[in-house]
Amino acid sequence: MILVTGGAGFIGSNFVLDWLAQSDEPVVNLDKLTYAGNLDNLASLSSDPRHIFVQGDIGDVALVNRLLTEYKPRAVLNFAAESHVDRSIHGPEDFIQTNVVGTFHLLEAVRAYWNGLQGSDKSAFRLLHVSTDEVYGTLENSDPPFNEQNRYEPNSPYSASKAASDHLVRAYHHTYGLPVLTTNCSNNYGPYHFPEKLIPLVIHNALNGKPLPIYGDGQQIRDWLFVKDHCTAIRRVLSAGKVGETYNVGGWNEKPNLEVVHTICAILDELKPRADGQSYNSQITFVKDRPGHDRRYAIDATRLEKELGWKPAETFETGIHKTVQWYLDNQPWVENITSGQYRQWVEKQYQ
Ligand code: NAD
Ligand code: DAU
Repeated sequence: MILVTGGAGFIGSNFVLDWLAQSDEPVVNLDKLTYAGNLDNLASLSSDPRHIFVQGDIGDVALVNRLLTEYKPRAVLNFAAESHVDRSIHGPEDFIQTNVVGTFHLLEAVRAYWNGLQGSDKSAFRLLHVSTDEVYGTLENSDPPFNEQNRYEPNSPYSASKAASDHLVRAYHHTYGLPVLTTNCSNNYGPYHFPEKLIPLVIHNALNGKPLPIYGDGQQIRDWLFVKDHCTAIRRVLSAGKVGETYNVGGWNEKPNLEVVHTICAILDELKPRADGQSYNSQITFVKDRPGHDRRYAIDATRLEKELGWKPAETFETGIHKTVQWYLDNQPWVENITSGQYRQWVEKQYQ
């Protein structure tokens, strides 16, 4: 049995689906179901006894204590977080509450549980904390990619809150001996990605005849990883990672934002041409830049590749094609989540 937090979100739900596709080990899935949590992602597991869904907060110590005592997981994987940089700029408080205070409470509950374990149950137990490359700050175009030795220099309320959670996880290892692992991954994309983030937002807006908003000059660089490759990396770190260590996860796929958007437009032009014969590129609109916008992220995943033998299966070209096709095939999923609350966010952000 494993306990996954945030398993109804984008990466967490991909992880749960992927885990149960290749293992019969059951999953307890604790998720608060914020605007970003969506049980539709897990609809294929609705009558699967290997998946136990519990709605709740990682900061609810009594609830987490109860789940740990009842299910006795051999590992806890923490995906739960507020994850959108732009939302953290409009309202940082939820980020502090979940990413910092919530992680602290989760660590306290897990520490008490782990202290009570004995023998091989105790030595085999792991807490895997899922984090981001954004904790390292921003790179110049001439800088080498981030490796695990880079200093933490977070620039947004989101990345600062994730950095704080990483530090707490580290401290619980050094101070209490808690067997932790941390992964710092680059930008994910793929199925079930909430359309507030660049790639799903652009696909959604393109298909609905809306502007494709590019912040600033569109030359900011991100390093893109297909979500399934992130899931295989997490499984690999869980099974073979060295306790107390951190592992950078990335796809060696650095792309300027504008190029990503052009690529999506070209795929849509081929798969679902506009009725008027024009390219979706004509919907591109430059808008005000994100405050404090990090210019470039890039991940050096050598350690994960050399020490644990992990490699991404997808290139950006194959992964983005699958992603666009998934959105075309799953329009009802998109329609369900782009109602009420989502529209209010879009109005606030892009007015
Ligand atoms: P997401 O926003 O899609 O999902 C987050 C999930 O956590 C949602 O289901 C939400 O309901 C749940 N949640 C939020 N607060 C909670 C709380 N207090 N208690 C329990 N559940 C709560 O996020 P994502 O993109 O899937 O990211 C998952 C994790 O991976 C995050 O920790 C994020 O920082 C990290 N990460 C994301 C990316 C990326 O590109 N998306 C890259 C690297 C790391
Ligand atoms: O690097 C990992 C991080 O990647 C994760 O930790 C975060 O949880 C995840 O949201 C993502 O953060 P980004 O800020 O990089 O992702 P986002 O999709 O919001 O933006 C990607 C780039 O596109 C960024 O440079 C901002 C730009 N952008 C974004 C939006 C939403 C636009 O130009 N226009 C937009 O409308």
